Amino acid sequence: MTDKPADSLSAVSTQPDKGDRERHPLAMETLVSLCAARGFIYPSSEIYGGIAGFWDYGPLGVELKNNLKARWWSRVVRERDDVVGIDSAIICHPRTWEASGHVEHFSDPMVDCRNCKKRYRADQYEGGKCSKAPKGHPTGECDLTEAREFNLMLRTELGASVDTAISAYLRPETCQPIFSGFKRVREAARQKIPFGIAQIGKAFRNEITPRNFTFRSREFEQAELEFFCHPSEREKWFAHWREQRLAFHREIGIDESLLRIRPHAADELAHYARAAADIEFLFPFGWQEIEGIHDRGDWDLTRHSEYSGKELGVTDEQTKERYTPMVIETSVGIDRTTLALLIAAYCEEEIDGGDKRTVMKFHSSIAPIKATVLPLSKKLAEPAHAIHADLRKHFNAYYDDAGNIGRRYRRQDEAGTPFCVTYDFDSEEDGRVTVRDRDTMTQERVPIEGIVRYLRDLLEKEQ
Ligand code: GAP
Repeated sequence: MTDKPADSLSAVSTQPDKGDRERHPLAMETLVSLCAARGFIYPSSEIYGGIAGFWDYGPLGVELKNNLKARWWSRVVRERDDVVGIDSAIICHPRTWEASGHVEHFSDPMVDCRNCKKRYRADQYEGGKCSKAPKGHPTGECDLTEAREFNLMLRTELGASVDTAISAYLRPETCQPIFSGFKRVREAARQKIPFGIAQIGKAFRNEITPRNFTFRSREFEQAELEFFCHPSEREKWFAHWREQRLAFHREIGIDESLLRIRPHAADELAHYARAAADIEFLFPFGWQEIEGIHDRGDWDLTRHSEYSGKELGVTDEQTKERYTPMVIETSVGIDRTTLALLIAAYCEEEIDGGDKRTVMKFHSSIAPIKATVLPLSKKLAEPAHAIHADLRKHFNAYYDDAGNIGRRYRRQDEAGTPFCVTYDFDSEEDGRVTVRDRDTMTQERVPIEGIVRYLRDLLEKEQ
């Protein structure tokens, strides 16, 4: 096993990095507490003090994340003829990671403090007070070791007996099983080049300094597409996927002003990449990557061919040319994008009477709850439940009868629910309910009979 980082079990860090906060006034601490209080995201193993780099998604968070994944799957896989999906195992044959180059290259330089035993990434250490610096120390700073490479893959043991157990890794990226399964999937799906294989799944990295809430975690989800093409078409497909993916982030409600594309300079390319561009989001702690578009060339298929002894080239049926396909990859972090969606949605507004409301203005396609039914009185529970039962057959609908109506509206604003449907005493007479719009707070009386169609039309209008 690699050394256990000194901070690996320490309290969860939600402290933002230094960055251009003025341009984005939301403080991360505010978002972190809203997320915990409303059940979006909270520290894993919270009752034990949390575990750095691991997070749990609550009832609202899991819906938000599932909606994001469903939209990705629909746009990248279901709506295209040239992409198929898979769901592979998290643990691969250990040779996979030798072939991929991760055993050799997937590391960060790290330094340890000889006094306080804390570990830092050498390229991110900015100096600072050491909690255990000896009295009279001239600067009070950490006494750092030389930088050494720290492999970020998380190791595990397979097999019951100590003597025969073999070491394996929890995958640090989801794409490698796509490369090792390339031939099988292409033949089974009867796909020809150009085509892609996609999957969504967990990835694990033993990050030295997990930080900024879920931004840099040790367990996270990725949605990756590996698109295989002829060497002459690499640039065309790189541009195609860069535009598609940028459009996706706009489509799920992230404002243009919070997104940008940043091409990689030659000296920051990963070991497998020939060209790369990041889609970046303006977090409260500055511009940071949420998705990478990579031209991986023929690195992966060539290496897996070499390490497995299995030929992974293809033959062009028309020209009979034999070649190894090139790979254009799109790799988006589901947790990072969920965090970006939470930040982009967060609003504080003044309302009538000088009150303030916090409202999460999610795009309707990703809002965790689409509509909540609120009976004005518990005496109206039966007809209100009937409406709820009808709505939830079509989309995620919620029911809330606790507290006064104003407080219930505030709760739904914080959950980011686009519509509230209030059943009152007049509803008994006129067969109508009041539909309240989250963003404009306008209210409209709508016939109960057509309520499902009415809400579906409004929810789909945005999409
Ligand atoms: N297969 C290529 C690959 O994994 P990457 O740039 O290392 O490329 C892709 O990762 C995406 O995965 C990033 O843009 C980010 O959204 C997400 N990601 C990477 N490391 C992460 C971490 N420690 N915590 C959360 N998300 C992470």
